[in-house]
Amino acid sequence: TPLTAIVPAAGVGKRMAADIPKQYLPLAGRTVLEHTLSRLLEHPAITRIVVATGEQDEWFPTLAIARDTRIERVIGGRERADSVLNALARVDTGRVLVHDAARPCLHRCDLDALLTAADQPQGAILACRVRDTMKRGDGRGAIMESVSRDELWHALTPQCFATGPLRRALSAALRQGLAITDEASAMEWAGFHPRLVEGRGDNIKITRPEDLALAAFFLQQMIESET
Ligand code: CTP
Ligand code: MG
Repeated sequence: TPLTAIVPAAGVGKRMAADIPKQYLPLAGRTVLEHTLSRLLEHPAITRIVVATGEQDEWFPTLAIARDTRIERVIGGRERADSVLNALARVDTGRVLVHDAARPCLHRCDLDALLTAADQPQGAILACRVRDTMKRGDGRGAIMESVSRDELWHALTPQCFATGPLRRALSAALRQGLAITDEASAMEWAGFHPRLVEGRGDNIKITRPEDLALAAFFLQQMIESET
């Protein structure tokens, strides 16, 4: 079945607090988004990427990779899920792989493991186990209880699902006014149980300023291990 990648890149990067959206910040000689897109294009199964950008985005057209014929651009929406739905409107059949623009350190081995696990109706996501002891707070700064971390995972991206079920789940969840921060949460709400695929811990999402230096380090390590 055909596989299309969707890259939501329409955020403003509020927590990053830079003067431009974080996906356009420089990282190891390119922009964050260029790293992310080329990590995906290096995989032979990914023949097409739909990127959702902001309406006023003046940076995307300046990227060399924007001229790659495998990449097309759509306008994003208010929330990440709106951006993903706008991109999904360009996809008819097969499976989609949704990957945050802000995760430039994706490894080929993680992509391979995810695609294998997602080859069934429930779909699959990359995830990593929680390391720290987890507490539930009372909302006023005091601990209510400790929560066993044995069953807790961090949801990462990419996340891979069949196109039709994902579109239906996302649009129904948005219509219900649910807060949807990843594709899996819409699928769970629709009754699916996506597989958790344990991925690498260095597949970080650039969120705060200190994450850029970390991503630069991880990318350098990746280049060194490939050569
Ligand atoms: N995203 C999007 N459309 C939105 C909001 C977010 O396409 N309306 C994208 C971002 O560009 C990012 C990914 O979703 O690649 C993950 O979101 P996040 O890390 O929260 O990015 P921002 O929303 O830009 O950052 P912040 O929440 O700090 O403002
Ligand atoms: Mg956000």
